[in-house]
Amino acid sequence: MTTFLVTGGSGQLATALAKAAPARVRIVGRPAFDFDRPGTLATLFRDAPPTLVVNAAAWTAVDLAESQPDAARRANETGPAHLASLCARHGTRLIHISTDYVFDGEKGAPYVETDPVNPTGVYGATKLAGERAVRAALPGAVILRTAWVYAEGGRNFVRTMLNAATRMDRLRVVADQRGCPTNADDLAQTVLTVADVMLGGAPAGGIYHAAGAGETTWHGLATAIFEEAARHGWKIPAVEAIATADWPTPARRPADSRLDCTRLADTFGVRLPPWQPSLRRAVAAICGAPAMAN
Ligand SMILES: NC(=O)c1ccc[n+]([C@@H]2O[C@H](COP(=O)([O-])OP(=O)(O)OC[C@H]3O[C@@H](n4cnc5c(N)ncnc54)[C@H](OP(=O)(O)O)[C@@H]3O)[C@@H](O)[C@H]2O)c1
Repeated sequence: MTTFLVTGGSGQLATALAKAAPARVRIVGRPAFDFDRPGTLATLFRDAPPTLVVNAAAWTAVDLAESQPDAARRANETGPAHLASLCARHGTRLIHISTDYVFDGEKGAPYVETDPVNPTGVYGATKLAGERAVRAALPGAVILRTAWVYAEGGRNFVRTMLNAATRMDRLRVVADQRGCPTNADDLAQTVLTVADVMLGGAPAGGIYHAAGAGETTWHGLATAIFEEAARHGWKIPAVEAIATADWPTPARRPADSRLDCTRLADTFGVRLPPWQPSLRRAVAAICGAPAMAN
């Protein structure tokens, strides 16, 4: 059984990978692995270069990236470029995680991998630059673009909604942005499958979309979260549907960043499950946790 290295220590995907395959993955995070301190990357390769790396470390604060573009660039572009070069030098396979926010959301249909990219903010722009840098350094790298990731722990929309439910009777949620909610556990299973196929010697690197099946809006997601929370006896807030224009944020987000994941299924034989049952599982687990009772 080949073990592999996962960056992004305390993050949602790294944590899910550690939970899914504790015997197979070695998780590294800050301060031992820090894109802001490039020497920490070389150290990881010095003694025993890993067979495969999953790069789940990233600057994911979409709004904050607008005011801290240099830090976002180090985590999302120059850091991954350096990591990919080290992988190339040591014969290490690389799975690099990217985002639906490389698209501008204007297509009006789910995006395929060959669609033109046009990020609307610094986060998407730095992630796109990271994709390009990784592919230039290591053409065999597999890049998985995912979307709207949440987990039982971590900072994410699901937890934000449930936290708000403990304090508020009424919430306003954007109803004109569409996407594919992705449970970090489902993404972790997909990463493990992709890793196994790569370690088996096939196929060639490239970009693949890997998000929860189906689609919704942030408002639809909030409604589904609260439906499940209500089943667990929670008092739930009223959810008002609003337009993006009524919820100004520093970063502009794509209005419709749904991802078509057919290429992933055709190449790796894996498809993420529909988002609803995965969401219900996560919400049930969070609602059952003593610290979150409302
Ligand atoms: N979250 C989403 O909705 C979403 C959507 C689409 C794509 N993605 C992509 O999916 C991947 C995994 O996301 P996630 O949700 O698991 O992210 P996450 O929970 O925000 O975790 C990101 C991890 O990256 C680490 N990190 C940040 N800057 C770093 C740096 N300069 N050097 C080293 N590590 C650094 C963080 O470390 P600290 O804990 O020390 O800060 C954290 O452990 C990322 O590539 C992300 O871009 C996420």
